[in-house]
Amino acid sequence: AALLLAVAGLGYLLGSVPFGVVITKLMGLGDLRQIGSGNIGATNVLRTGNKAAAAATLVLDGAKGAVAVLLARLILGNETAAIVAGGAAFLGHLYPVWLKFRGGKGVATFLGTLIALHWVLGLAACGVWLITAAVGRISSLSALVAAAASVPLAWAMSDQMLMPICALMAVLIFWRHRANIARIFAGTEPKIGKKG
Ligand code: G3P
Repeated sequence: AALLLAVAGLGYLLGSVPFGVVITKLMGLGDLRQIGSGNIGATNVLRTGNKAAAAATLVLDGAKGAVAVLLARLILGNETAAIVAGGAAFLGHLYPVWLKFRGGKGVATFLGTLIALHWVLGLAACGVWLITAAVGRISSLSALVAAAASVPLAWAMSDQMLMPICALMAVLIFWRHRANIARIFAGTEPKIGKKG
């Protein structure tokens, strides 16, 4: 139990590193909290116009979830620990202590965690994101559709605890996107790469 708590703490700490904020600052692109939606994710980094910074944010925010899962698997060797660590990383991204718990919306970390937990399921969720983005060109809408789709996909593809954890993460993703959801219904949500 102590080890499980330790991997949860490690997952949280990994997840709480706000790569978008760090990268934009290091690259001299300004304070991400003052740009676009003010969110710390790759979508908002792209609003600086710097595609490399956005790609790096996407990959690193995803990787921190995956690394948490892989480390837990390595240390404890069971899937419960892997799920706990991945879930903790996701929560760390949403509620990072370093940003007074005002973190991101969790999409990249959700996808990275899912790929490490069950790569077919993770890639399927990425596929849903990509297809929705290709059609609608709206990042938040793609995230909502992918998060929602992950629940039945997990039910169909995995025999583990993955469906409830996907449902939990999907609910939190919807909660964190409530301003985006209002903008989608109002027709004012910006397209990918546009400043809004
Ligand atoms: O990944 C977050 C994305 O779904 C929405 O970001 O900056 O448009 O609120 P943003």
